[in-house]
Amino acid sequence: MHLGVCYYPEQWDEFRWQEDAAQMAALGLTRVRIGEFAWSRIEPETGRFEWAWLDRAIETLHKAGLGIILGTPTATPPKWLVDAHPDILAKDSNCRVRGFGSRRHYCFSSQTYRREATRMVTALAERYGKHPAIVMWQTDNEYGCHNTTLSYSAEAALAFRNWLTRHYNSVETLNSAWGNVFWSQSYRSFDEIDLPNLTVTEANPSHILDFRRFSSDQVISFNTMQIDIIRAHAPNTDITHNMMGFVTDFDHHTLGADLDLATWDSYPLGFTEQFWFTESEKIKYARQGHPDIAAFHHDLYRGCSNGRWGVMEQQPGPVNWAAYNPSPLPGMVRLWTLEAFAHGAELVSYFRWRQAPFAQEQMHAGLQRPDGSADVACAEIAEAAGDLEHLAGAGKPLSSVALVFSYEAQWMIQTQPQGKNFDYLQLVFEFYTALRKHGLDVDIVAPDADLNHYKMLVIPSLPILGNEIMATLENFGGPVLIGPRTGSKTRDFQMPDDLPPGPLQELMPFRVLRVESLRPGLLLHGAGFEINRWFEHIESVSLPEIALDNGCGICFKQAQYRYLAGWPDDALLAQVIASMAGEADIAIMSVPETVRVRRRGDLIFLFNYGTEPVDVSDVVMGGTIIVGKALIVPAGVCVLKL
Ligand code: GAL
Repeated sequence: MHLGVCYYPEQWDEFRWQEDAAQMAALGLTRVRIGEFAWSRIEPETGRFEWAWLDRAIETLHKAGLGIILGTPTATPPKWLVDAHPDILAKDSNCRVRGFGSRRHYCFSSQTYRREATRMVTALAERYGKHPAIVMWQTDNEYGCHNTTLSYSAEAALAFRNWLTRHYNSVETLNSAWGNVFWSQSYRSFDEIDLPNLTVTEANPSHILDFRRFSSDQVISFNTMQIDIIRAHAPNTDITHNMMGFVTDFDHHTLGADLDLATWDSYPLGFTEQFWFTESEKIKYARQGHPDIAAFHHDLYRGCSNGRWGVMEQQPGPVNWAAYNPSPLPGMVRLWTLEAFAHGAELVSYFRWRQAPFAQEQMHAGLQRPDGSADVACAEIAEAAGDLEHLAGAGKPLSSVALVFSYEAQWMIQTQPQGKNFDYLQLVFEFYTALRKHGLDVDIVAPDADLNHYKMLVIPSLPILGNEIMATLENFGGPVLIGPRTGSKTRDFQMPDDLPPGPLQELMPFRVLRVESLRPGLLLHGAGFEINRWFEHIESVSLPEIALDNGCGICFKQAQYRYLAGWPDDALLAQVIASMAGEADIAIMSVPETVRVRRRGDLIFLFNYGTEPVDVSDVVMGGTIIVGKALIVPAGVCVLKL
């Protein structure tokens, strides 16, 4: 695994570059990412390219022994370009222009922008495609970040109509697929169809879902355009894109299929603060990040690009963008680095080399303070670099459980949540956490992935059951857990003729007669567990495996399949997962609450996300400790060799 750093030579006086490069190398870094926001420095005005500074920056970094990851600067179209072509700018759902002055202000449907981005990427690829210093290309920066996948511009509307025409062929087919007889919504031609914004009350969910699919396709085709150019000039160099944690507005599985490796940007403290975690979790894990956030994304992105993945940006200290931005517990930067390794990363690159004393991110820590002195992460990175030498030659990450994640499911449930606390991503995350609390190694996979070699399969929710996943389910030999709302919709976003769970009835003979969403505090009770948020009324000839106190079924089992008819709490999930692991003959591990485990080859990694030392002597029996101690300090790591 390479260690690297994000660097912005254009932001510093040139006399500092050489020393920066030497210090990076001395720290144990072998990769440096540059260029991804530098458009206005590369091309200060239309057609006038200034390559000399970039040539020298690349030369200087290369001479210090660093391999360069070169980003295309398309996330930041410069002012002269935007002024000449205002149609480049995206529009929000209120049709307000998303203006110049930060970043990601372009619309994926702008033909002008596609032409301009093609011009820039071609110029860059022509110049550096064969350069020996460039070891990897990064397209753009964090597609979708800052809510930038969806744009409501006139060009987006036009492109959407074309997309619909290609998908439906005839407007009658579309009218029937969307159920447009309802509220007199029928269209006479594709030209009449607008984007699903600015409607009086909610727009038709089928309309919204198609707009989400279309918008995702626009991101993918924008990226493919860049990849085709880079591949033509650098056929043997890896291409990646750095995806942002918890961004789900485009299909990362589809995007990842075009990449050589998927990378993602890991900010565990910011994410803990920004997402659904409870107040007490936010305090408990304020300085460590919730123990499953980094791992969840590692396991997700490993499944996006054929197993090859990395971390392009790793939080090194306080960030600037969450509601509160505490400092990581001493040791966390090393822990995050080794955890990425345990999950099979090829790269961990820290964001950023030196904290910028100017502009938007001046409060964001780097590896150096603005004055060039080493900030606290440096010592931890040096230590991690030493650990990695020790761990060289480790085998592949093991995986016994496949967890299905669907971007389309996320869009559907966002479109029609039915209860405001039904968050698909959170549901998946809670299933993931429950698996990890049993010490299980999880691969997060797309619904159409090949799953036959797994011992256990978990589908937290999948409203559309397509032919591929149905075939997988039929052939899967091990225990399968299927969560609420699965099979509840057709591809067109209608209810199935035979009621939910639609095609799943071929494998499990039951029907969902009614669903109800439950406000916080409205709970249904069972023996040692509670159901919150969501409950389904099931009609079944067979008795449930687990019932509520009132006798209603909550978990139904038929052959190797189990269906959960509600949003489970930790206790219910733990009970079901333990039964399944037993049936699959997978050993579960009982680890302390703040500890997480990951196996890679013959190594077992244990990470202490807690603020107190944890004794794992029980777990350690049978292995030799090669990193750390059985008494793991807060933010500490223990690695065992079997
Ligand atoms: C990422 C982004 C970086 C930087 C960083 C700050 O989302 O890619 O450019 O802004 O956040 O945490």
